[in-house]
Amino acid sequence: MNPDKNTLQAFKSSILFFTDDPDRIDPQGAFTYHEEGLLLVEQGYVKEVGPFSELAQTLPPEVEITDYTGKLIIPGFVDTHIHYPQTDIIASYGKQLLEWLEKCAFPIEGKFADPDYAGEVADFFLQELLKNGTTTAQVMCTVHQQSAEILFQKSLEKNLRLITGKTLMDCNAPEYLLDDASKGFDASLELIEKWHGLGRLSYAVTPRFAITSTESQLEKTGDLLTSRMGLYLHTHLSENRDEVGMIKTLFPWSRDYLDVYERYALVGPGTTLAHSIHLTQQETERIALSEAAISFCPSSNLFIGSGLFNLEQATSTGIAVGIGTDVGGGTSFSMLKTLAEGYKVLQLQGQSLSALKAFYLATLGGAKALGLDNKIGTLLPGREADFTVLNFNATPLIERRVSMSETLEERLFILMMLGDERSISSTHIMGTLS
Ligand code: GUN
Ligand code: ZN
Repeated sequence: MNPDKNTLQAFKSSILFFTDDPDRIDPQGAFTYHEEGLLLVEQGYVKEVGPFSELAQTLPPEVEITDYTGKLIIPGFVDTHIHYPQTDIIASYGKQLLEWLEKCAFPIEGKFADPDYAGEVADFFLQELLKNGTTTAQVMCTVHQQSAEILFQKSLEKNLRLITGKTLMDCNAPEYLLDDASKGFDASLELIEKWHGLGRLSYAVTPRFAITSTESQLEKTGDLLTSRMGLYLHTHLSENRDEVGMIKTLFPWSRDYLDVYERYALVGPGTTLAHSIHLTQQETERIALSEAAISFCPSSNLFIGSGLFNLEQATSTGIAVGIGTDVGGGTSFSMLKTLAEGYKVLQLQGQSLSALKAFYLATLGGAKALGLDNKIGTLLPGREADFTVLNFNATPLIERRVSMSETLEERLFILMMLGDERSISSTHIMGTLS
């Protein structure tokens, strides 16, 4: 049974969390690790983390200790870019972005006019996130107001930290997915007023990408963004070469793709630019200056054949980068599998992704990209106690390989290369087992 939310909870386990980017400082100084640790949670927030031998003695005798010995507690994963309406078209064969949108993504998104279907998919989707250890996600909906309404409602019931919003599209897509600039504005505003800041929910103003918005819609998008404090801006940028080519035709005045969003004041802190693969050096520098973040979506970038994201260029320029599964262009809800794909994308460019960096990106790095590092992504006292319990024995192969390992870094690397949802023993939302 879950203890009452107001009682003190105690979890015994190996515990790992990051306090900094292991690439920025001495990697050993970037994280805290307790081989035999104790995590104390009070009213959903981290009270303390420390060695079991020390902390256990301070516990009142009535506190029951949940024993996860042999497992590893880490902060819940942060998925910075995913589409819930694309759950049912994950793994659709054979196309690149623009054709994939037309043949796979748009038709399924049309089904979200039906609230029963949207509700059923939202339930399944949230369950998949939790099964995969993801406790925070920035999610694209469809153009239908109720697609966002339903996801907000269900996330509120589960107390998930979710950032979402209805998609804005008013051109270059099938008629059944278009609203007009002023209807899109009004519907977004209603959703913002109802949901932004309620529980752990935040609103993301969501122009899908520049191709599916007229300039009149982009202008209203800028107005929406300043309508309340703390709103996010969630969109796609420079994912595919044909897409970048279309931008030149549709916005002939633009010096590059980013310029289209900049013209309407959409790029700044709180902005997430998913993919951002085919950037010029100038675009990279302007993103860094603006303090917008990039979502690196390696499984999608490989599956849709979009290209190889240059992580080193982005991070060395000072851009905050998080990881996105980008389901259904991405092929898995698992952040572990997504990290494995990230490793391979970087290998192909002569770059590397250490296990420490990978787990940092999937937790605190994602939280920083979303401006939430004062709330989640780490297990310092006072943070929301969202955490994932990893299992090193999920499959005979992983168990066998882990038994050959000597260091924490090796074990993390094995999990990230071979792990999937079977490696997630349990997921806790503000201390509560989900
Ligand atoms: N660009 C515009 N829409 C989409 C989408 O749904 N998925 C991906 N991967 N890229 C997009
Ligand atoms: Zn996407």
